[in-house]
Amino acid sequence: MGQQSDGRAPDTIRLLIVDDMAETAQNVQKLLHFEKDIRVVGIASSGRDAIQKADQLRPDVILMDINLRDMDGVEVAEVINRQINTCIVMMSVQADPEIFSQAMSVGARGFLVKPFTSEKLVRTIRRAIENIPQPGPGGGGYAASGGGGSGGLRKIIAVYSPKGGAGTSVLAANLAIALQQASQKSVVLVDANLQNGDAHVLLNINTSASIDELREAVGIDQEIIEGTVIKHADSEIGLLRAPLSPESAEQFTSDATKTILSALRDNFDYVVVDTGSYLSEATLTVLEEADLIAAVTTLEVTTIHRVSQFFQLAERVNISLSKVRLVCNRVEQYYGIRPNQVESQLRRRFFAQIPEDEKLVVASINRGVPFIVSQKAAPISRAIHTLAQRAVEVLAPQNDPTPSRRWPAFRQ
Ligand SMILES: Nc1ncnc2c1ncn2[C@@H]1O[C@H](COP(=O)(O)OP(=O)(O)O)[C@@H](O)[C@H]1O
Ligand SMILES: [Mg+2]
Repeated sequence: MGQQSDGRAPDTIRLLIVDDMAETAQNVQKLLHFEKDIRVVGIASSGRDAIQKADQLRPDVILMDINLRDMDGVEVAEVINRQINTCIVMMSVQADPEIFSQAMSVGARGFLVKPFTSEKLVRTIRRAIENIPQPGPGGGGYAASGGGGSGGLRKIIAVYSPKGGAGTSVLAANLAIALQQASQKSVVLVDANLQNGDAHVLLNINTSASIDELREAVGIDQEIIEGTVIKHADSEIGLLRAPLSPESAEQFTSDATKTILSALRDNFDYVVVDTGSYLSEATLTVLEEADLIAAVTTLEVTTIHRVSQFFQLAERVNISLSKVRLVCNRVEQYYGIRPNQVESQLRRRFFAQIPEDEKLVVASINRGVPFIVSQKAAPISRAIHTLAQRAVEVLAPQNDPTPSRRWPAFRQ
């Protein structure tokens, strides 16, 4: 039967087990004994065998050990994914985040640490298949994908300013919502101000679930993401809030940060990251991993100077300037410096100019309702919509019309 061409999960899930230990295959079969809709159609005992059987049997799901005698499971997964349309779930005896992220990087749709219970096995298999890329609207998430926008999927946008107070958090929150509205795709706002994040205040989301839970998890699966990313009541975005206590900030190493970003990227079309000004290991990693950096300046000399320094530094630390877009916030004609003067000083055109509107911004922060929601027609909201639209265009995959992922269910 195989995977249905319309992308829906099939009635019977046909499973290929790949493991060089015969015992594992037997155990999996036992664990699946009561699952009438999951049928083991083949067992392969090596990487080469797996590639051949995958091609012959066209299973819906392949459950594969990441360590095979003849080949690396990651390599096998890559070959199979090029050959056929299937869902690969990796197994490993090690609960190692590095192995987990390797598996995810080659498109694995699930990860199981051995030994596992039948409940965990069945749930992972079902999740893997439910997570098949949906071909278009009506893909069955908590909100229908309207099919608007031009793609731009699984992209990370970092909103960053080397100077605190430039408006990074305000812009990131409003941009995330505008981006969702412009693209009709799934968007998560990540508060990576690890010591003093306030995105949850801007969105009026009261939660104790935070990015710390993802850092502490051995493998980040969809379940954990659904439990920590909280749906915003006034829009369709989700929020992953900053840690509850500032001490945990230093635990976000480059590896931990990469693992979290990569898992979020796998689950959302756009990951908007509100970063702190201080270039910590985590912030540098976010900037390295980002597909687009909205670098925020204002018309203040001190901020402009810092942005200029950041551009010089970026070139030295592996942050490609080609993905940096300069955004001018708090544009106001009485400040004694004109936007075009800043452009020539920084030798860059502004990607977007966001007007100053203190009354509206402060009132929206105090009410916990982003102005992009409450005052759609205000010039500042229109400017952010323009920014979002441009970001969608810049990030549109030119020749890679990857279909949208299923929308994860957020915790309400
Ligand atoms: N476009 C704007 N117009 C008026 N005030 C703004 C604007 N953007 C930001 N602000 C003000 O600047 C303050 C700092 O913004 P915030 O986003 O918290 O900065 P950052 O995250 O960069 O430290 C906010 O409290 C808000 O009052
Ligand atoms: Mg901030």
